Amino acid sequence: MPADGDLGEAAAVLRTGGLVAFPTETVYGVGANALDARAAARIFEAKQRPSFDPLITHLADVADLEVLVGPVSSAVAALATRFWPGPLTLIVDRPEGIPPIVTSGLDSMAVRVPDHEDARRLIAAAGVPVAAPSANRFGQLSPTRAEHVVRGLGAAVEMVLDGGPTRCGIESTIVDARGDHPVVLRLGALPVEELEKVTGPVAVRPGSSGQPVAPGTLAAHYAPRTPLRLVSGAEPAGIGGAECGYLAFRDRPAGDWAAVEVLSASGDLTEAAARLFDVLHRLDAAGVTGIVAEPVPDTGVGRAVNDRLRRAAATWHPAS
Ligand code: TXA
Ligand code: MG
Repeated sequence: MPADGDLGEAAAVLRTGGLVAFPTETVYGVGANALDARAAARIFEAKQRPSFDPLITHLADVADLEVLVGPVSSAVAALATRFWPGPLTLIVDRPEGIPPIVTSGLDSMAVRVPDHEDARRLIAAAGVPVAAPSANRFGQLSPTRAEHVVRGLGAAVEMVLDGGPTRCGIESTIVDARGDHPVVLRLGALPVEELEKVTGPVAVRPGSSGQPVAPGTLAAHYAPRTPLRLVSGAEPAGIGGAECGYLAFRDRPAGDWAAVEVLSASGDLTEAAARLFDVLHRLDAAGVTGIVAEPVPDTGVGRAVNDRLRRAAATWHPAS
């Protein structure tokens, strides 16, 4: 846990236009003052992120939402009250004070209150809303440990706060609940089943539009450098081999593999989600020629895990 002095220094870095990477309950974020267009621009540079991919604004407290954006729809208010602080990002109308670069020119803004003491104390100490995407280069694996951030972004940020491994391990669920029919734009750490207890049935439409509103929903994203192949359950035989790594849900696979990682020996989906990116980072560093991965049960947070695996398996053409 960062010392108070580090948090104070990090808050000062944010206030003066710098970048600070910090832990949240989902993944590490790289933050900038969301009221400062130049600071926000530095995030896009550091991540090599296309300017059409909007950022999430982070607040210290639920009460800060209406202070920043004014009145919100009753569904947004109900979701914020029920799930914040927590791994839920809500879409609201972009307020005047937030420069368009933060939202990539959209009239809407993504916002959440992270459920992590360090993150909330940092944002409160900075005294400004903090724009923060996941602290990785665009398209690559999200960071769940401070060392992933240092390896991926390194010198591009002024400070990295180390809060140990993150609890959820995958990103927040993104919901647009401004209208009568809430829509999930990105599956994430908050299961759809939990949302529906508050909102009633929601549509899940990740990646449905040609012009991506949430590039975390691009077909290829969250990708290791090593080619990853998703197998459809039972029979990995003949695909991988002694040069490949294997990513299993609960049971070790038969046969010869250069490296095997099991997400959860007890078959617990929350544990599987928490370990997913860490294990992919490890397989990526293991020098294997390919990664064979099996899907997890497609329920609860397992849906978000499978979503990440499918995107990791899609071919990535960063130049296009
Ligand atoms: O758990 C998380 O959400 C982490 C932590 C750091 O908070 N952040 C994160 O940020 O995953 P990022 O930038 O990697 O993903 C944010 C996603 C992007 O796919 C972006 O397109 C979408 O949120 N997004 C941002 N603003 C949006 C908006 N106004 N409408 C629709 N999607 C939006
Ligand atoms: Mg990301």
